[in-house]
Amino acid sequence: MIQKPKGTYDVYGDKGKTIIQLENIIKALMEKYNYEYVRTPIFESSELFHRGVGETTDIVSKETYDFIDRGNRNMTLRPEGTAGVVRSYIENKMYGNVIQPVKNWYYGPMYRYERPQSGRFREFYQFGVEVFGCSSPLMDAEIISIPVNLYRLLGLKGIKVNINSLGDTESRDNYRKALVEYFKPFIDDLCDDCKERYNKNPLRILDCKYDANKESIKNAPKIIDYLNEESKEHFLKVQEYLDALNIDYEVNPNVVRGLDYYTHTVFEVEASIEGFGAQNVLCGGGRYNNLVNTIGGIDTPGVGFALGLERLLSALEFENINLIENDSIDVYIIPMDNKIDYCLALTNDLRLNGFVVEMDYMQRKIDKNFKQADRLKAKYAIIIGENEATTNILTVKNNHTKEEYKVKIEEIVDFLDEMACDCSNH
Ligand code: HAM
Repeated sequence: MIQKPKGTYDVYGDKGKTIIQLENIIKALMEKYNYEYVRTPIFESSELFHRGVGETTDIVSKETYDFIDRGNRNMTLRPEGTAGVVRSYIENKMYGNVIQPVKNWYYGPMYRYERPQSGRFREFYQFGVEVFGCSSPLMDAEIISIPVNLYRLLGLKGIKVNINSLGDTESRDNYRKALVEYFKPFIDDLCDDCKERYNKNPLRILDCKYDANKESIKNAPKIIDYLNEESKEHFLKVQEYLDALNIDYEVNPNVVRGLDYYTHTVFEVEASIEGFGAQNVLCGGGRYNNLVNTIGGIDTPGVGFALGLERLLSALEFENINLIENDSIDVYIIPMDNKIDYCLALTNDLRLNGFVVEMDYMQRKIDKNFKQADRLKAKYAIIIGENEATTNILTVKNNHTKEEYKVKIEEIVDFLDEMACDCSNH
């Protein structure tokens, strides 16, 4: 049998319902924040990610899905959303929009050739936002507030917000030099990956899961001590605004992020739930004041974040949070005496009037149909036989109380509406 590719998964049944519900909550939240929806292609020219995400990152050096298309172009399935949204911002000249800053949100699949494990997939979904044209720390705080408010709305409790600052280019360069100097005597002590990071991107040694508990890492110089005045001021303001937003956070100097484009604020939110597993980073993001320029646009500050849908779903499951509110249907329509056409028209009409309606497609016997109505958790069953079809007076049965009503066809919508109101009043 042909099986799904390694590191992917199918969505069906209750998981499908939960995901749709989650997507609706995300959409509604983004409306409240007044962000605009953007969608960019799932594949882009490989160069975009090399320049954008960074050659030295694990994502670009080891994890991209690359292919050459039939026109001999180097293409890559997007491993993340930021680079594509930045490209779109530049290409569509959004820097000329009347309303600034430009606040975008997106949602869609990303691809990374990683070693699959719980919470880590090769195809996974991200919800993310990217804001352009605002260098104020106010925007850093707004960005952090988005996932935090989403978790609040969902009722997720076990979350921890870690923030750090990588400073501006000057601060980061100074820090990088200090780290190279500091780690020189400890190189042999580090894992093979970190040995490579030492030369290419020493900051990444600090968030190595493998080496995390080594004394040399714990005692490494901290970026905070290398921030220049401007960077320090920016970071302090972010903290002031997070306090104003009533968001708990911890300043964690080891949050350096796995992508090269960050400047100033970086943050991650982790699930601090007993037994959740190693892949506990629910979302991450930060400021990237040089990325638009690196990708070929005019100097424009940017800030954003992305969260992994799969890890969020696991966290909800761990905390027993069920998003499926109501999986009952309003009406189940039962044709008798072969009154299929009449039932079909009624089903269609009620659906267009906003009701959730199913009809018997299988010409079941009446007792089997009542069982089906129960299985579907139908609030009402409408039975249409010869008599109903000729008089246009329908037999409507409340499937819970088993009470029966006779309702004229032209009054059925009002009847169902009134009944729905009555139910919600009780
Ligand atoms: P990232 O930290 O690489 O950042 O990914 C963000 C989130 O996507 C992670 O926290 C995690 O929840 C989820 N994620 C990443 N890889 C996987 C995977 N293999 N399987 C399942 N979930 C995964 C970015 O992608 C940046 N573009 C975020 C950003 C936006 N920064 C600024 N703007």
